[in-house]
Amino acid sequence: MASVKSCVWTAVGILCLLGQILGLDNGLALTPPMGWLAWERFRCNTDCKNDPDNCISDRLFRTMTDILVSEGYAAAGYEYINVDDCWLERERDPRGKLVPDRERFPYGMKSLADYVHSKGLKFGIYEDYGNFTCAGYPGVVGHLAGDAATFAAWGVDYVKLDGCYALPADMDQGYPDFGRQLNLTGRQMVYSCSWPVYQIYAGLQPNFSSIIEHCNLWRNFDDIQDSWASVESIIDYYGNHQDVIVPNAGPGHWNDPDMLIIGNFGLSYEQSKTQFAIWAILAAPLLMSVDLRTIRPEYKAILQNRKIIEVDQDPLGIQGRRIYKHRGIEIWSRPIIPIQGQYYSYAVAFVNRRTDGTPSDVAVTLRELGLNNPSGYRVEDLYEDVDYGVLSPQTKIKVKVNPSGVVILRADAQPSFAYNAIPTRTPYSPLNDVFRLTKK
Ligand code: GLA
Repeated sequence: MASVKSCVWTAVGILCLLGQILGLDNGLALTPPMGWLAWERFRCNTDCKNDPDNCISDRLFRTMTDILVSEGYAAAGYEYINVDDCWLERERDPRGKLVPDRERFPYGMKSLADYVHSKGLKFGIYEDYGNFTCAGYPGVVGHLAGDAATFAAWGVDYVKLDGCYALPADMDQGYPDFGRQLNLTGRQMVYSCSWPVYQIYAGLQPNFSSIIEHCNLWRNFDDIQDSWASVESIIDYYGNHQDVIVPNAGPGHWNDPDMLIIGNFGLSYEQSKTQFAIWAILAAPLLMSVDLRTIRPEYKAILQNRKIIEVDQDPLGIQGRRIYKHRGIEIWSRPIIPIQGQYYSYAVAFVNRRTDGTPSDVAVTLRELGLNNPSGYRVEDLYEDVDYGVLSPQTKIKVKVNPSGVVILRADAQPSFAYNAIPTRTPYSPLNDVFRLTKK
């Protein structure tokens, strides 16, 4: 969507402006947003007296901004520094304006946003459509236009609008209303909605065509917690409901399976690799919620794996699917560029959900994965940095997947002129003559 400035006063210009007022289509989030979000790791810690390093405060966000830049996260694509709940005073000011907590954000949100911008990053904020945020701070209802204008004046680039203390049935009206107010400010802000998840929990059927039209991203399911069980439940939810969920994703509008918890307390190294790989297959927003001051290098390396980030950020924006699930082995696959004729390239993730202690072999032909390009695919492992060369669809690949771990491959469709160059076998051997899926 063009900005107000670029709308000219012709009939086309009026349509342009009308488009801005009526629908979201803000030209943002053409690939899933990437950044850092406070909630999962730092929660509603408001005790700056006893815990100054970890409380929700100006200092925490400035520190994370600095590290995002100095430690290579920004260069890898992480762009947003997002405040979540608990940044507000309990009361609006006498004119009805939102006020950030005076002790924890002494310089105000404009100053914080300016700081984030000065480092080349973008600034996100949290609010709630209802009477209160989930943690009990003032919500936007009754103040939609004023609060949107406040955010624009502060230089906010991203708004997460939660849905506590609101009636889910009101959201079909309320979320688009607030989105319109954001648009009317003329400042482009990514709009993150919690609209479907609250409706699903209330037993309502979300109107996804409206959600897609009005939100850049939205939550479908539970809040992520610091455990593998939580990550597994999210993976299962997205797999079990993929026929409804997957078609809704695309450039500018994404399903949000919630934050990355990699580098915290609850996930092993293997499980962390699995979360990152599956989030990339799901075309998920990559919002890290971790203490970047203390993260161990191996977890940082996962979060900065450029090859997997490239899958997540694939410009086609097609969300992947679970294509196989049997006795604890799952295969997930996502179409990506380059496209050669009628053939997509793919990212393919093999996940081992078993707990029987030893890695499982999974062997499958490319054809069985739906990779039928007669000119073949260049296949590489995105964690192990192994290039398998160009493989034909008949080729059987065999991967070893660690318990609760993942192997993620990228298979780039080759142009037809490469046909004669396909070796029947590659020197490095993922090949196996027998299709075999190790069963428990
Ligand atoms: C809800 C959201 C979380 C977080 C909290 C804050 O639970 O789903 O992501 O924003 O509220 O209170």
